Amino acid sequence: MDLTRRQVLMAGGAALGLAGRARAAGPGTLEARPGRQQLAPEGYAETAIWGYDGRAPGPELRVAQGARLTRRLVNSLPQPTAIHWHGIRIDNAMDGVPGLTQEAVPPGGTFDYDFVAPDAGTYWYHSHNQSTEQVARGLYGPLVVDEAAPPDVDRDLVLMLGDWRIDPATTEIDPDFANFFDMSHGGRLGNLVTVNGQFETRFEVRRYQRLRLRLINAATARIFSLGLQGLDGWVVALDGMPLAAPEPLAERMLLAPAQRADLIVDVVAEPGAPAHLVGFERDGGFALVDFAVAGAEASVRRAVPEPLPPNPNMPAPSVVDAPRADLRMEGGMMSGMTGATLDGTELGFRELAQRGRFWAFNGIVGMTEAPWLDLSRGETRRIAMINDTAFPHGIHLHGHHFREMRPDRGLGPMRDTVLLDAGQTREVALVADNPGDWLLHCHMLSHQASGMKTWIRVR
Ligand code: C2O
Ligand code: CU
Repeated sequence: MDLTRRQVLMAGGAALGLAGRARAAGPGTLEARPGRQQLAPEGYAETAIWGYDGRAPGPELRVAQGARLTRRLVNSLPQPTAIHWHGIRIDNAMDGVPGLTQEAVPPGGTFDYDFVAPDAGTYWYHSHNQSTEQVARGLYGPLVVDEAAPPDVDRDLVLMLGDWRIDPATTEIDPDFANFFDMSHGGRLGNLVTVNGQFETRFEVRRYQRLRLRLINAATARIFSLGLQGLDGWVVALDGMPLAAPEPLAERMLLAPAQRADLIVDVVAEPGAPAHLVGFERDGGFALVDFAVAGAEASVRRAVPEPLPPNPNMPAPSVVDAPRADLRMEGGMMSGMTGATLDGTELGFRELAQRGRFWAFNGIVGMTEAPWLDLSRGETRRIAMINDTAFPHGIHLHGHHFREMRPDRGLGPMRDTVLLDAGQTREVALVADNPGDWLLHCHMLSHQASGMKTWIRVR
């Protein structure tokens, strides 16, 4: 029987419909690929970036708390890659660390990520292979896990902070990712800060609207000092995890690379008056986000928000008799480090520096055969993080949140990344309740690449 043109179209349509359904049942994709993007202010050319689906940040992934997230990573980059789901108490096999939890995905290859997101909050995903280069080129994106009953706000806005080193003449990314000066000092600092991948980020709001701001620092090394103008409110969560009670915003807050802060703020500026997210630098404050106040939503502010609901099954550390392990950060310029162990060999600082290895944990540069800590499931450890260097570090543990300990030995907030100033010591309490091999490293990615990383095993 000859098909008429109309029947052919319908048959084709039906086939497409089926194919569409089949695809919807499989994982969605995240393609790591080159793209071009207007990062610099108007008047400058676009910049060649690497991004998930060709954009930086990549798509905002959102799942309900307790739901599964499935994504097929498609690698269309000229380098191997992998995705780490930062801050998720994840199944170890899905943690995305080449050499520890998976093989790097070669160019042209794929990897299916499939995991449950047990905790509501603000997380992110980023490349964990050659990350000093791949994150600096734009391979990161936001991951939001929604509470079953979200707080009462008018807007829920992700603000992902990025930091780029751009050649002003060409507007291209400086390709010197393994620069020894950056590595041995504060890391690769950029000359262009973006929010959600744009130089200028603007939202229209109304007076007395209530906003949830999800701040994510995706910069490879920059510590942001942030404040608000024309907006006032509370910190309700750090690194995804709700605070026991909303904390009134301080005038400035620090956000280390990889850290997140969830704020609930009210627009208090009069219509037309300035309202900004401000980034402070040595020479003053700069508007990072512009909130244009047009009209009023209400005539008064709302009451103090309720705390966010706590995440389930967070282990409570019993720190009283938990053994303590010391994690001493060493190295970098202006340090007293005279040498360290690299691949089982003792080397002097100068020899290490010639190899581009500048940093150590406990006198050991980089990864070792055996884990730094070998813990049984459920065990509590106090970890004293001792910054014996002249630079700040943001130390991140995969697969867990630990509790910061206050100077009075009380338990502080849950975090997955802790910022230590030069010379500072801080204790955290960790309950090792997620089995697997987990990286522990500085999230100043030039430091990680030049030695400041180790790993722990939980069995
Ligand atoms: Cu944000 Cu080792 O990762
Ligand atoms: Cu560091």
